[in-house]
Amino acid sequence: MTVQLNHTIVESRDKREAATFFAEILGLPDPQAYGPFLVLQTGNEVSLDFIDAQGSVHPQHYAFLVTDEEFDEVLARIKDRGLSYWADPFHGQPNEINHNDGGRGVYWSDPNGHNLEIITRPYGG
Ligand SMILES: [Fe+2]
Repeated sequence: MTVQLNHTIVESRDKREAATFFAEILGLPDPQAYGPFLVLQTGNEVSLDFIDAQGSVHPQHYAFLVTDEEFDEVLARIKDRGLSYWADPFHGQPNEINHNDGGRGVYWSDPNGHNLEIITRPYGG
């Protein structure tokens, strides 16, 4: 297959606040303006294009594959900010991480209610 995901749009009440939150928590470069978007580039060249929502934000799920070292760094930032985090996508296991697929994973929320996840192994990996 040659089809690759290139970008997706992330709705937010305040694109600057949301894009900065993602960049800081994940340790990614500063978002760059492109038209009405603030573009956050990820390591596999898929960009998250933040935009101010017209009306209410519909929460989505965004999952990021990270190294073990990055996992430690991101989880430390989550804790430093006093954010809630969970081992599961339904937020039923607070203050825990999971060890699915022989790796580590954790969920937390962005300021708009998007359900964020980091994993060190792909699902089924
Ligand atoms: Fe997921």
